[in-house]
Amino acid sequence: MIRDSVCALVIAFACSATLGAAGSSRAKAGDKIGRGKYLVDQVGMCGDCHTPRDDQGRLIAAKYLQGAPIDFKPTAPVPVWADKAPAIAGLPGWEDTAAIKFLMTGIAYNELPPRPPMPAYRFNRQDAEAVLAYLKSLVSTGK
Ligand code: HEC
Repeated sequence: MIRDSVCALVIAFACSATLGAAGSSRAKAGDKIGRGKYLVDQVGMCGDCHTPRDDQGRLIAAKYLQGAPIDFKPTAPVPVWADKAPAIAGLPGWEDTAAIKFLMTGIAYNELPPRPPMPAYRFNRQDAEAVLAYLKSLVSTGK
């Protein structure tokens, strides 16, 4: 009798542990995208350059991360200044491993750092994966 109820307890526990694990891996995928959104919007401020602005200087929400002209210049000459920031919603053309390397080291496909003003970010792996997951969750409108 006692043994039966212990047994039932063990089964119930094992069962809830399994359900819990499935639930938390779903939660983890959501957390990763949420963390990526936070890093993109609040820390890296990627939209400052990758989202175009209207004539009042406000970011155009409908074109979020769809690429934008860079409308400022350095006060001293910089030979390789980039005058536009590409679309990064959906990260078109980027394989995951290359994107992770770029976000962790600032080194792109061509083994070069991006042209300024794109910062060479040094995210740790977990954060680079979160940024990638978030950007890939967005749709590129192919602007
Ligand atoms: C201060 C402006 C600025 C900010 C902030 C910025 N970028 Fe950029 N980004 C650029 C510019 C300009 C380029 C184009 C660089 C070039 O052509 O070499 C670029 C290029 C890129 C590229 C393509 C790199 C390549 O070599 O093809 C990726 C990917 C990228 N940015 C991701 C991001 C992410 C993710 C963030 C935020 C975490 C971010 N950028 C924040 C300006 C910016």
